[in-house]
Amino acid sequence: MTRWQEPVAQNSLEDIFGTLRRHPDVEAPNLQAWDATDRLLLEAAAARLTPDTRLAVIGDRYGALTLGALGTLGVRRVRVHEDLITGERALRNNAAALGLAAADPGAVDATGFDQLALGEELLSGAGTVLLQLPRTLAELDEIADAVARHAAPDVVLLAGGRIKHMSLGMNAVLARHFQTVQPQLATQKSRIIMASGARPATEATEAPGWRPAVEHLDELDLDVAAHGAVFAGAKLDIGTRFLLTFLPEMPQARHAIDLGCGTGILAAMYARQNPGARVTATDRSAAAVASAQGTARANGLEDRITALQDDAMSTVPAGSAGLVLLNPPFHLGASVHAGAGIKLFEAAARVLAPGGELWTVFNRHLQYLPTLGRLVGPTTVRGSNPKFTVAVSTRRP
Ligand SMILES: C[S@@+](CC[C@H](N)C(=O)[O-])C[C@H]1O[C@@H](n2cnc3c(N)ncnc32)[C@H](O)[C@@H]1O
Repeated sequence: MTRWQEPVAQNSLEDIFGTLRRHPDVEAPNLQAWDATDRLLLEAAAARLTPDTRLAVIGDRYGALTLGALGTLGVRRVRVHEDLITGERALRNNAAALGLAAADPGAVDATGFDQLALGEELLSGAGTVLLQLPRTLAELDEIADAVARHAAPDVVLLAGGRIKHMSLGMNAVLARHFQTVQPQLATQKSRIIMASGARPATEATEAPGWRPAVEHLDELDLDVAAHGAVFAGAKLDIGTRFLLTFLPEMPQARHAIDLGCGTGILAAMYARQNPGARVTATDRSAAAVASAQGTARANGLEDRITALQDDAMSTVPAGSAGLVLLNPPFHLGASVHAGAGIKLFEAAARVLAPGGELWTVFNRHLQYLPTLGRLVGPTTVRGSNPKFTVAVSTRRP
């Protein structure tokens, strides 16, 4: 948990948005650190907020909502949950750029923001919750459940999104947890749904904390744990399925890494096949890391697999792994961008020992081979099918 104090001098929203950066997430001219939904949510919240409002923010991408509420709406304290560690770091960087300073974590009366996991500490007593709607209904269900369960009984949830990414299913999910669900008028291609009248948790939904659902994957004979936010849910991605067919050919490494692990299927399957290996399953998403930990536990592999939330293995020592397995992202949020995959190739090159191997699967149309050769070392195609290529890059000395 990180806590900051000292309110920003009252700024205009333009000043704040103009300062925001995505770093350490990938940056490019067509990628922005805030969107029209952030503005709409802050405008919609303005009339409801006083300096002492107990405000929680969920899904803030790079800090636009948190810093907007602190800097322009005069709220003294904001509790915020972001799934991605890159978003958490960006919020801290952006706060520092706006003149915020780190506070004593024990300072109960501090002004500023607290970065917290999705759960009671984030939400207890919250009267207003601002939410950037997530991509999946399963993730929305987890968030709405947490809000209805832990926030004040009269909490108002303002959930906003880009209209092209919203569906009627979102209203239905919210209606499971709130008595009143009211879509508001759309502005600049964004819309807010207001939910109130939290339904008390029923016995059926009474869960002791934030736990992933576990499903058995027959084709791998593997139990897979999946939070709502995780890539592919509890299913096996078709690229990952193809990469797994090469498992018997992969080297036996003392330390192997499942990079961008999602539910940790690659980590679990490699650990099971190589009893001498220690495996790190790492992802920038808190939901992914918790899921990978759940998958390891569900298959009795928790002593062999370490789950680590990190951005592109930034805390993993250079030259410390003999093998990296990677099904790279090529979507950055809603935009398609190759930078996310390339960032992970660079990370693999740094963390592999000389002679260590990076096994990657990617869509055939992606021209990754020259990039892998340049960043990591000699690269060969180990197999391909109509959709995917599996490449092996050997870390040059
Ligand atoms: C295509 S998914 C693969 C998930 C899983 N390995 C599988 O095969 O089902 C890519 C994963 O990379 C993660 N990721 C993206 N950028 C990352 C970064 N900078 N550092 C760590 N993980 C990242 C995403 O959160 C996502 O879980």
